[in-house]
Order: sequence, then structure tokens, then C-alpha cells
Amino acid sequence: MVLYEVKNYEEMSRKAAAVIAAQVVLKPDAVLGLATGSTPLGAYEQLVKWHQKKEVDFSGISSVNLDEYKGLGGDNRQSYRYFMDTNLFQHINIEKSRTFVPDGLEPDSVKACRAYDEVIEKLGGIDLQILGIGANGHIGFNEPGESFEKGTHCVDLAESTIQANARFFQSLDEVPRQAYTMGMKGILSARKILLLAAGEPKADALYQALCGPVTPQLPASILQLHRDVAVIADQGACARLHGQGAASYFLRR
Ligand code: F6R
Repeated sequence: MVLYEVKNYEEMSRKAAAVIAAQVVLKPDAVLGLATGSTPLGAYEQLVKWHQKKEVDFSGISSVNLDEYKGLGGDNRQSYRYFMDTNLFQHINIEKSRTFVPDGLEPDSVKACRAYDEVIEKLGGIDLQILGIGANGHIGFNEPGESFEKGTHCVDLAESTIQANARFFQSLDEVPRQAYTMGMKGILSARKILLLAAGEPKADALYQALCGPVTPQLPASILQLHRDVAVIADQGACARLHGQGAASYFLRR
């Protein structure tokens, strides 16, 4: 695991976009594992800019997203499919039929999750998985306490996650209580992982993920077991690592 500490969100976004663009250049038919949320948004904006300047070609790329709210369809503005379409896919030349997000409208959880694992398997696995981290250490919607060995599955969202995501909905009541998420098994089978973190609210989770014990109580800690993880985090997110003198152990500037 290598940590690249950067000044701020903008620098994190540019560096993350550069890693993604490099993957696309090196393997034009790569499978990208993508995340939603505030963290990767700046990287997606940068990729769109580079694409508009004809510097990155996504025509051979496939993508699989980490998660989707159960019960929301792609035309719902809060769905992760809608987020990906409007923030990235509509602005680059990726083939829409090769962009995959769990089917939030499939009420049968077992069916939805099995179908998604089959998609990932048929694509030959994920070349580069982008991850954000929740303040409680979740990755995807793998909340604290989930077992590590699951493939895609249906989760009950933690109260803290519901609260954190409420900012995107009209009211707390509208936030879905369940989601389909890629499991740790799927995430860990990605050939490379890029974990992004910005801001002090992520400092504790990032510290626990990198330096704490590997435990389902802090889902991101399992990344310690993967052989190719890069972390790009800003100064705020690294605050606790510095406090503990731990950053020097991982750091490349
Ligand atoms: C999103 C996802 C989540 C987020 C995490 C951080 O697809 O899987 O794990 O990465 O909740 O969210 P933000 O980036 O909004 O702080």
C-alpha cells in the first residue's frame, strides 16, 4: 500500500484522473470499477475535460459501479446510475451498454446480486477499482460488521450512512434503507485499487484503514491485504496519520 499525500481536493482529483487515464491508455479495453459520491467527482470532471481535448479515449472501456440503492431506477436523480450518467458517461465516449450498475429496480436481491457478479466475471474482472471511504470506514456500501467474504449482496444501510447521504434527498425519509453493493470479495479481486480520501471527516477512518487491525468493523482495513493499493489523500484526510507519525511509513510525495 502506498499513500500519496496531496494538498487539497483539487490536487487529489487531478492525480486520481491521471491514474485512471493512464489505465485507459495502457489498456484501452480495461474494466474500470467506479464509485459515486463527492470524492471522485473532481476526478470525473478532469477526465471529461481531457476527453474533450481528445486526450483520453474511452471507446473500448467497460465500467462496473460499486453500488446502487435498492428501489431506485436510473431515471431517479438520486440513483447512482443517474449520477454516473450525468457526471461522467454522457460526457465521454464510453459505450453506454458497457457501463454497469447494479439493477436497483430488481426487487429480488439474490437475483440482482447474482446477475451483477456474473457481469463482473464475464468482463474478466476489474483492472482498476476506484474507492471512496465512508467516515465509518465503509467501502462501497460494505458497512462495519459485514463479513469479508461476500460477493455482491443487499445491505441495510447504517444509520450514519443514511444521515450522511440525506443531503442529496429532500428529506431523511426519502433516503433508501437498502442498497446492492459489490462485496469485499469483488473489490479485492480487482487487479489494482485506488482509494481516495479528502477532508478531515475522513481522517480517522483513513488512519484505521491503513494502520489499524484488519477487521470487518472497519471495512476499508481489508485493503491492507491487497497487493496493489494506491491511496491519494489530501492533508485533511491525512491529519490523523501525521498525528500518529504513521504517514512516513506509507508516504510517497
Ligand atoms: C459510493 C460508495 C461509497 C462512497 C463513500 C464516500 O459509490 O461506494 O462507499 O465512496 O460513502 O462518499 P463521499 O465520497 O460522498 O464522501
